[in-house]
Amino acid sequence: MASAPSDALKRRHTRLRAALTEASIDALVVTSLPNILYLTNFSGSAAIVVIDRDRLHFLTDTRYLASVADAQTTPHACPDLAVEVITGSYDASLAACLQAMGGGRVGFEAAHLSVSRFDWLTRTLAAAGRDRPLVPTEGLIEGARVRKDLYELAMLREGARRLDEVATAVFGRVSRGRTEQAIAADIDWELRRAGFERPAFETIVASGPNSALPHARPTERTLGESDVVVLDFGGVYASYCVDITRTVAVGRASERARQVHAAVLGAQQRAIAAVAPGVSRFAIDAAAREALAQAGMGDAFGHGTGHGLGIEVHENPRVVQRRDGVDTRDEAVDTGMVFTIEPGAYFPGWGGVRIEDDVVVTEHGRDCLTRVTTELLEL
Ligand code: GLY
Ligand code: MN
Ligand code: MN
Repeated sequence: MASAPSDALKRRHTRLRAALTEASIDALVVTSLPNILYLTNFSGSAAIVVIDRDRLHFLTDTRYLASVADAQTTPHACPDLAVEVITGSYDASLAACLQAMGGGRVGFEAAHLSVSRFDWLTRTLAAAGRDRPLVPTEGLIEGARVRKDLYELAMLREGARRLDEVATAVFGRVSRGRTEQAIAADIDWELRRAGFERPAFETIVASGPNSALPHARPTERTLGESDVVVLDFGGVYASYCVDITRTVAVGRASERARQVHAAVLGAQQRAIAAVAPGVSRFAIDAAAREALAQAGMGDAFGHGTGHGLGIEVHENPRVVQRRDGVDTRDEAVDTGMVFTIEPGAYFPGWGGVRIEDDVVVTEHGRDCLTRVTTELLEL
């Protein structure tokens, strides 16, 4: 599997250490696995990292030693990694590691450490004579992850190219008489065949009235003439998530399907055209929402316009409506950010349409990473 080169990891560490200095923190306990992957290339399911000024103390167990060794080969080795194989529990090993590091200010990821683990650590460290409290931090690594580096952009571009291939293959599998579940199974198989590690989320195939549910689960429903079918799927390529939705018709599309599809496509194009460095994420959302409102379908669009993509399938930036009193800053998107634009219109009892593409913010505007046709295909 592809891994970030050592110099990219080094730059990520340097930036994080600068943020730690800014927060007057000497070491950070990293318990979020996506954040650990970002810092080290480790893609297993159990580890804790403590990053200080000189080292990344990497706590894992014997199940992962081979994959750690594999990942830590030139030119992908994680700089300054000190692997410590845990004996007993992860938290006991973490407490011992922090004890051995002495008395500096230690931060932890408040969003990624449960209250009970925090309580246990605090009590254990206090009992061992360490009386400085652990310092909660928010989004120190997620804040860096929001703008992708060159390696990440290359992986996301390649993932999107492969996702287009999957979409093209899947169009050939949609036909009257097939079930949603059968088509979803085909999509998951095509994702594997295209080189994805796994689906990025549970594949959505929603036909006829089921397509009125934005996150419908595939059922045994059989596709019938003139049904609209929402196909929403994503894949993880080299640890990076890409995500696409197309809405197609079975046989001849109805007049209503054409109207709704045209309105959603217009909204999507307006939002994509709005993407540029310095533009508020709320303004991009508003572009899609206003277009649908002008088409008389404003009430049919209930979810956000898009979400960031990267190591996680839903990450920052969120391209959503501004919340009164909560979103006080006009957060602008910037170069290197990658996110979806996926407006939809949903009508209970009839069905729905969603169209989703992945875009990267470039110096002069944006580039669409997924490019397979958005027209209303009649299959
Ligand atoms: N179905 C997941 C997404 O498109 O965000
Ligand atoms: Mn999707
Ligand atoms: Mn999405």
